[in-house]
Amino acid sequence: MIKVINLYKSFPIGSSELPVLKGINLEIRRGELIAIVGASGAGKSTLLHIIGTLDRPSHGTVTFDGIDLFQLSETQQADFRNKRIGFVFQFHHLLPEFTALENACMPALVQRRNATSVQADAKALLETMGLGHRLHHKPGELSGGEQQRVAIARALMQKPDVVLADEPTGNLDSHTGDALFRLIRDLNKTQGTTFVIVTHNDKLSAQADRIIHMQDGMII
Ligand SMILES: Nc1ncnc2c1ncn2[C@@H]1O[C@H](COP(=O)(O)OP(=O)(O)OP(=O)(O)O)[C@@H](O)[C@H]1O
Ligand SMILES: [Mg+2]
Repeated sequence: MIKVINLYKSFPIGSSELPVLKGINLEIRRGELIAIVGASGAGKSTLLHIIGTLDRPSHGTVTFDGIDLFQLSETQQADFRNKRIGFVFQFHHLLPEFTALENACMPALVQRRNATSVQADAKALLETMGLGHRLHHKPGELSGGEQQRVAIARALMQKPDVVLADEPTGNLDSHTGDALFRLIRDLNKTQGTTFVIVTHNDKLSAQADRIIHMQDGMII
């Protein structure tokens, strides 16, 4: 489904360039659950951002079902992100003036899906994530782990083809983390959702179909 071919990324630092990704090649098959692991600074988040078209490579290509993502216009990329990809990042970017339920509903409403069925889906997902009692709290009234779970529910609402998750269990206690693994595995099995998960959590990576080890901008 996703092919990363000879990918390089450098960031400008003053007058020089900092190479961060140094020739990444990776194929992700539909329905796979992949964990990306490696030391802090190895380039994991940078790779995930580029796969999600949130940043551009310096060299190399990423294709999704044969489509070269960086040949698309910005509008096409935005549409691709909204329809095909669910993001779960370290910073959740929840909308502060909306409740947990409304935040989870947002991407589906942007797609003009029926509001009643969207609400029912979002409520069910939030309940699965143990947030049934916090549906009407705004992000500022939720704990860090609760906010993270709302962000995860929002990512899953669209039934995306692929979920790109950066440290999804970072703020969760082990009990809630375990519930999240079960949800991920369940969606992976029943809906065939592909997951690419950056994680430092050994319990989570142990459940992956494949573990990709990154070191200093390369896959080892
Ligand atoms: N916009 C940027 N400008 C300059 N350097 C950057 C930028 N983004 C990332 N870097 C550098 O690239 C390297 C890789 O960053 P990245 O966030 O991909 O690491 P990571 O593997 O996700 O680490 P962590 O496990 O700590 O999240 C780091 O050394 C970081 O300082
Ligand atoms: Mg990171």
